[in-house]
Amino acid sequence: MDLHARRADSFGAQAGAYAEHRPDYPVAAIRWALEPLGTSERLDVLDLAAGTGKLTSGLVAEGHRVTAVEPNEQMLSELVRRVHDVRALPGHAEHIPVPDSTVDAVFVGTAFHWFDQEKALPEIARVLRPGGVLAALWVETVPDVEWVSELEQLSASSVESRRDDPTEIMAHPSFGPVERSIFPHTQRRDSPEALIATTNTYSRMIVIDEEERAAINEKMLAFLRQRPETSNGPFDVPLRSEVYRMVRVSE
Ligand SMILES: C[S@@+](CC[C@H](N)C(=O)[O-])C[C@H]1O[C@@H](n2cnc3c(N)ncnc32)[C@H](O)[C@@H]1O
Repeated sequence: MDLHARRADSFGAQAGAYAEHRPDYPVAAIRWALEPLGTSERLDVLDLAAGTGKLTSGLVAEGHRVTAVEPNEQMLSELVRRVHDVRALPGHAEHIPVPDSTVDAVFVGTAFHWFDQEKALPEIARVLRPGGVLAALWVETVPDVEWVSELEQLSASSVESRRDDPTEIMAHPSFGPVERSIFPHTQRRDSPEALIATTNTYSRMIVIDEEERAAINEKMLAFLRQRPETSNGPFDVPLRSEVYRMVRVSE
């Protein structure tokens, strides 16, 4: 298995920690993604690569009929345990277990970069009704805050993290132009250890060996314990959710 495939399939090993320590998505991001549908009615929504249900629970809370699709068994079990009122199915983006033209929106939370986009985009177009929306979201820490960017540098592992430009990897003739918006939010962490636990759910940390991970964790802990922003009780990690949306065109 190559490194990309190993990383894409790595999250299950940390499923419990993922559910506990990864941030949620802001509701404003979900609402902006659905704006092109022009309705406040209950919608049929697919959460593709749903993981442990971070985005799924936001979609359910907004009152939509949600189907969650996730290939990793441990992630899907965690989702079923934590999120109710959802139809949860095993499956991949390249072969979505949902009939043609049956959903109003497909959401992808921090996962579109793991797909084989050439296969996934026609599949997503197939399940969407004409006029439906594809929304891909990514949650990131805010790089222009000093302690955050220093921590990012300290926590770099031997596995490089590079993300392709979403407007390039999402472009497809079955869809209109890609639009983008950014939503700032925060994640409360009670201690340096809790933030380190979040970092350890990233694939670039999961796939490295134990020795390298321990060394990075030690560096992060020493740093967070001496920074005034993070050394005294609970603190907020500045985040932003980047959302890319595009509308399924009729053929
Ligand atoms: C970073 S997690 C995001 C999970 C969830 N959407 C969230 O926002 O918390 C990436 C997820 O993509 C899933 N995944 C990886 N490759 C996939 C594929 N080809 N099709 C569908 N899901 C995939 C992984 O199993 C994992 O649950």
